[in-house]
Amino acid sequence: MPAPHSRILGTGHYVPERVLTNQELEAKVDTSDEWIVTRTGIHERRIAAEGETTSDMASAAATRALEAAGLAATDLDLIVIATVTPDMQLPSTACFVQSKIGARRDCPSFDIAAACAGFIYGLDLADKFVRTGAAKNVLVVGVELLSRVMNWDDRTTCVLFGDGAGAAIVGASDGERGLLSTHLYADGGFTQSLQIPGGGSAEPPTASTVAEGRHTVHMIGKDIFKAAVKNLSSASKTALEQNGIAADDVDWVVPHQANLRILGGVSDRVGIPLDRFYLNLERYGNTSSASIPIALDEGVRKGDIKPGQTLLMCALGGGVAWGSAAMRF
Ligand code: UT7
Repeated sequence: MPAPHSRILGTGHYVPERVLTNQELEAKVDTSDEWIVTRTGIHERRIAAEGETTSDMASAAATRALEAAGLAATDLDLIVIATVTPDMQLPSTACFVQSKIGARRDCPSFDIAAACAGFIYGLDLADKFVRTGAAKNVLVVGVELLSRVMNWDDRTTCVLFGDGAGAAIVGASDGERGLLSTHLYADGGFTQSLQIPGGGSAEPPTASTVAEGRHTVHMIGKDIFKAAVKNLSSASKTALEQNGIAADDVDWVVPHQANLRILGGVSDRVGIPLDRFYLNLERYGNTSSASIPIALDEGVRKGDIKPGQTLLMCALGGGVAWGSAAMRF
């Protein structure tokens, strides 16, 4: 008997109400709407309200995904939260989410840190739990509250990122629909290129780490840009080759959305026109691990992404860590 494969049973997302436009950023740092739009494709992003937490956003997205799947929180038997902006270092954000959504008190719950690739890493994990029978219904959330780890005086980073959460419930598939493959990669040679250097055991928080902005995102944008075009293209091609899918047969690429120019490079290399990339970065900026599940859920709710369509996902972020996923949605 073939091993049961998994599929996405339901999706949900949440973005904070507050919209921060490029024009507002022009008043804060030496930048322009024109620079941001032409270099990145971003027009605006969402910013969490004061007091709103990563687990609040994750719980809202998770509750919507459960509704879409027709399941109760008590039906979950694994909770995986992909984030680099947890509520706290300890305990995991997943434990807060378990409590907030009313999942079972014995439901295993943990975080994974694969930066912008976190949702694909989470899907891979969920698939393996479902295939082995270790779990039946897995909640995977990509969630980031990046506005709290921005240096709002650094124009090279603060114009790029936004807050939000996207969720998927992964369970067993009984038919043709389901995850076809996941491919995960990481290259620790790039650890210097994208970091929040302070606050961990390497640089515990002190008055001077705070004064020097060590608790905010530091990025060498060009390094990440080049790594992204190269690795997103190769991981995408690997996914297509492994499954015998022609570029023309992909209905939608649902990519991590950091920069429209990166995706243009991937489109050229993989041979899938950019109009088949499901994009929303103009409205949300780079929401790291949340960008794929937010776009996926928007596509599903708008009726653009339909059951049975062939989807390709790809993401790369800090680490660098990257990956791809192919599915018959
Ligand atoms: O989610 C995964 C992680 N992140 C990414 O994937 C991001 C990858 N990197 C990128 O998207 C791009 O590298 C950036 C959008 C971050 C930067 O674009 P770029 O074309 O690589 O610009 P650059 O860093 O080479 O900077 C070009 C110029 C510089 O000025 P000079 O040195 O040429 O005078 C920057 O100082 O643009 C300047 N600049 C800005 N100007 C206006 C940098 N940021 C800004 C800004 N507004 N916000």
